[in-house]
Amino acid sequence: SYNPTPEDRFTFGLWTVGWQGRDPFGDATRPALDPVESVTRLAELGAYGVTFHDDDLIPFGASEAERASHIKRFRQALDATGMTVPMATTNLFTHPVFKDGAFTANDREVRRYALRKTMRNIDLAAELGAKTYVAWGGREGAESGGAKDVRAALDRMKEAFDLLAAYVTEQGYDLRFAVEPKPNEPRGDILLPTVGHALAFIERLERPELFGVNPEVGHEQMAGLNFPHGIAQALWAGKLFHIDLNGQNGIKYDQDLRFGAGDLRAAFWLVDLLETGGYEGPRHFDFKPPRTEDISGVWASAAGCMRNYLILKERAAAFRADPEVQEALRASRLDQLGEPTLNEGETPAALLADRTAFEDFDLQAAAERGMAFERLDQLAMDHLLAAR
Ligand code: GCO
Ligand code: MN
Ligand code: MN
Ligand code: MN
Repeated sequence: SYNPTPEDRFTFGLWTVGWQGRDPFGDATRPALDPVESVTRLAELGAYGVTFHDDDLIPFGASEAERASHIKRFRQALDATGMTVPMATTNLFTHPVFKDGAFTANDREVRRYALRKTMRNIDLAAELGAKTYVAWGGREGAESGGAKDVRAALDRMKEAFDLLAAYVTEQGYDLRFAVEPKPNEPRGDILLPTVGHALAFIERLERPELFGVNPEVGHEQMAGLNFPHGIAQALWAGKLFHIDLNGQNGIKYDQDLRFGAGDLRAAFWLVDLLETGGYEGPRHFDFKPPRTEDISGVWASAAGCMRNYLILKERAAAFRADPEVQEALRASRLDQLGEPTLNEGETPAALLADRTAFEDFDLQAAAERGMAFERLDQLAMDHLLAAR
């Protein structure tokens, strides 16, 4: 059945179902949603937890007393429903003070404020039991060339992450950071635009072991990239700490459609990979129910994310279990790709001495062998469309 349960580990950002539909061209189409109602409704739909930006839970500028009461109500809703908070993050993009970025703003005072805002919410994240802290640098970027010294900005980004890692280590928090790439929007160009850029950056940090990535389906697709390939490389590097699932149609503005909308074939291969590749984190949806929807449409959209994941999980498992698929995989020589190219202990001299690898290699025959990928892909298509 396609009914989600907490064992499926589906989580939602408070800002997803809570999005009021404000866009650059139009006002809100839906009223504000109380986080307590979101927790309750998502629990009823079968979710495992919720995630939040500081300002989703505690309105920006709230007094200490107001802050405490928002946290208390939220905790009560979590206790009443059994919902968890596996991840939290900071809003470093809405307030006008962040118009030129946060950790990489040219203005030094803004950078210091951004660090303090983040540290404050890290304390709350740890208190609520979150294990992952997401860092999406939505406004870390520029619209014009002279406006940002990118190498200096990367120094400042590293400085910020090194400080935050030192802080969680000193505090003894069981919390790791997940950097979320995005190529553009809201800035013309954003720093750390893709999974690959983020993975390379992480290795330059003082405590790289505390940092991984939080790739979002649509963000890589906005850059024209193959999302499952990016996820596979993050898994290969041991860096897939978290994931933002949603839908996107090609290279255009960030659509944040519900999971399963947009590139369905990429979604199929993604679920196949997540379910077989050792990812154990939450299946987190970061989508925006379109502003055409009223509140019942919001819950239909959230339920659709989970249902589509479960359908794809079933379809991918059927594909893997099909004996004809297994035979087709062998015909495409996937088993050979799993074998090391060299024999155990084989040296460069030994390879040079192996005449079958070069002098006696039947180049012609190898060039003529078909790979049989089309048959394999049609079997995948048949399973995806439930035609088998
Ligand atoms: C986007 C981003 C954001 C971030 C989230 C966490 O769609 O542009 O995904 O939604 O994930 O705000 O900071
Ligand atoms: Mn996201
Ligand atoms: Mn997005
Ligand atoms: Mn998003």
